[in-house]
Parts: sequence; structure tokens; C-alpha cells
Amino acid sequence: MAAPLTRRDFVRGSGALAGAVLLGGGAAELLAACGNGSTSSSGGGNLTGSLEIFSWWTGPGEKDGLAALFQLYNQQHSQVKIVNAAVAGGAGSQAKAVLTTRMQANQPPDSFQVHAGQELTATWVKANKMEAITSTWKDMGLDSAIPKDLKDIVSYNGDVWSIPANVHRGNALWFNLHTLGNASPPTTFDELMTSLNTFKSKGVQHPLALGSQGNWQIAMWLENGILANGGPDYYNKLFQGKGSFTDAKVKDTLTQMAQLFDFVNPDHTTLDWDAASGLVAKGQALYTIMGDWAKGYFTSLTPAMAPNQDFGTVVHPGTKGSYVTVVDTFGLPKGAPHRDNAVAWLKVVGSEQGQEQFNPKKGSIPARTDVPTSAFDPIAQQFMQEFKTDKLVPSSAHGSATPPNFSSAVNDILGQFAQNKDVNAAAQALQSKAQQFLAS
Ligand code: GAL
Repeated sequence: MAAPLTRRDFVRGSGALAGAVLLGGGAAELLAACGNGSTSSSGGGNLTGSLEIFSWWTGPGEKDGLAALFQLYNQQHSQVKIVNAAVAGGAGSQAKAVLTTRMQANQPPDSFQVHAGQELTATWVKANKMEAITSTWKDMGLDSAIPKDLKDIVSYNGDVWSIPANVHRGNALWFNLHTLGNASPPTTFDELMTSLNTFKSKGVQHPLALGSQGNWQIAMWLENGILANGGPDYYNKLFQGKGSFTDAKVKDTLTQMAQLFDFVNPDHTTLDWDAASGLVAKGQALYTIMGDWAKGYFTSLTPAMAPNQDFGTVVHPGTKGSYVTVVDTFGLPKGAPHRDNAVAWLKVVGSEQGQEQFNPKKGSIPARTDVPTSAFDPIAQQFMQEFKTDKLVPSSAHGSATPPNFSSAVNDILGQFAQNKDVNAAAQALQSKAQQFLAS
């Protein structure tokens, strides 16, 4: 049995601790104690002009969460015109390329969505494209509201570089409760296979919904499977470049994934995660493996699906006790055209009110620990509890554990694997990219 992963290991896995001088000395704590985390200190209602916010939140649920933040911003800064520059494509499959082009041309938006960890630090901070937001963090008293583990993965070289809006869970299996009926949801891979076979023979032709456009969804299968087969310590070492993707546990995972493909909708390469969630909602499929933004999808439908009544969830089979974290944050690019408006945006994103209005729609739990739980559905409340005690492991598919060049190489390899199911070729290709991109 692998040694338990400590919170410190989680931070290390996200690559942010190296070089980070931890803040929170006497002065910072004093400020934190005085701060109330509200958004009132930035310019009040005097701001004017526009605010361009870049994200990839265009799907049901996620776009509603974004709209809630915009609404709150405009309640506080009614003279600012918000420009929603979202680019469609789950996990930023299209948006990240657009953002890169703009950043390279020194045409940044005022603020943009970026995952905590490597995606933030390895891509933008090290390239000197971001402004540190340490003083905003202190002004807002976030040291007393956001767990240090989360602060650490948005910190680098002693400064803070973005504000976490939420924590998503990546290791979840979602199901249509009406289709599942009295059956129990699976807790192991074998139980999942049995259930898939059972429901297929009952006439649910493709019981496992997949939308693999961009292939990052298959990367979630991989990381969840590796976590199930190896445990959190193994997972962390592997994604830190200290293991080998040609190891038996990775190959076992790929072998299991090949079996899962027998149960997925044949048009999966043309669908994204939301369309796959739609197959579950309509009862055309029973399960989908997805982050809890799928919950945001289900609850945003008309009529809305009710958590634990119309749809349910279990942790990805075999990963109980671990929490794959996907942390969406917003930062301040150097040269933001409307810098004051952008700072005010960060204050809305990090505020108690902002997190209370955003997260129930988005499907995530707040990054702040002081948000009243009453605004949240029972699944979110359960996840909030588990987040406190589970082993936290950063997602590679969503840019926290590994740098973007590795994550996108994994997506390409898994896109090919979905076609040829060649376990050895995929394992070797993954290992060669790990050697190239993951520092050991
Ligand atoms: C993730 C992101 C989530 C959600 C998802 C699907 O990368 O962290 O907030 O938007 O993609 O688009």
C-alpha cells in the first residue's frame, strides 16, 4: 500500500511549491484578520469602460456560473461593460490556443480563466506574462478564507498569481437514477463492467456516454484509472516524472480503458462532454465519467434534474478517499487594457458572495471555506466534506499536475489509442513524452 499523500505532496504535485516563499507572516495575518473578503474596496461603483473576460465556459451550467459572476460584478460596478470572450470547447481545447496567440501578440484580455498549478506557473508566470496579485490577495484577507494548499498552487517565487474561483472534482462517475433503478452504482472496475454488461443486455445499447472531442475526456479516464490502480502516492510520482508509464499499473489501466470503449456511443469523437452528459440526461446512456461540471449541466437543464433524485454520482470506481482537483482561477495578465476593472473582477471572483453565487451553478465547491453550505445541493455538500479529509491529487488532464505540453501530448496519444487500442504503443508513447516534459 502506498504511503498516504499529504497535503504538501498535493502542492508539490502541482509544481507550484518549488521556489515559493510562503506568505502569511505577522503582517499578512493581521491584514487577513481585518479583511472581510468583500469586493467593496476596489473603486466602489466608480469604474467605467469595459472588462474583457476570457474563458471556455460556454456549456450549460458553466456559462450560467459565469453569468452569475458577471451579474454580481455589474451590481457593484454598473458602469462597466463586460465583454464575454469565451471560446467554446470543453477544457479549453480551443480557447487555450486562442489565448496563446493573443498573449504572444501582447493583446491580453483583462483577465482569463487558468487552472491552478502548472498551467498557470509553467505557461504564463515563468514567461513573465502575469502581474503578481499578492497585494489584492492580502487586501481581501484571503489567507483566512482559502486553504493554504490552494494558495500554494497559485503561488510562485513568493508571490500569488491568480485567485481560485472553485474546486472541481475530476474523479466522478455520473448516472441517470431512473435508468439505474434499484441497482447499486459500481465501486470497482469489475462492478462497472458487470453493470455495463447488464444494462447493455437490457437494451441500453451504449451505456457509457463519452464525448471525446479534444481527447481530454479520455485523459480523465486515464488519470482516474491510474489513481484507482496505483493509489494517490503512485499517481503523484508518475505525473511528477518519477515513475514509468510502461509500468504494469498503467498498462492495466489502458487495458481496462480499451474494454470500456466497447460500451461507448460510436459517435464519441464528434461530441464534447456536455453532449455526452446529455445522453445520460435523456436516458440514452446510463453513465458518464466526468468532472462535477457535469452536475452543473444536469441541474441547469429545463426541467432541471435533481441531484440524488434524477441523477447521482459515485467517485470513479476504485478511487474512494482521493479527490482529483481541478481548480479554476483568474489572473491578471501584464498589460491588461482595463487593469482597475480587472482587479475589481478578481475581487468579485474571490469574494464570499461571488463564490456562493458561482459555484452552485458551476457544479464545483467553493475555494473559500467560509461560504455557507446551505446554498449547495447534497452532492456538493458531500464533496465539501470529502475535500476536507480525502487525499488531494491535482489533475493532469486539466493542467494542474503537469505542464500543458505534456497534457496535450497525452490527449493526442489517447486519441490514437481510442482508435487502435494498442496498449503497449500507448504506454511507450506516454513514457517518451513523460521523459521529454516531466522533470524528475
Ligand atoms: C475544465 C474546467 C471546468 C470546466 C471543464 C469543461 O478544464 O476546469 O471548469 O469548464 O473544463 O469545460
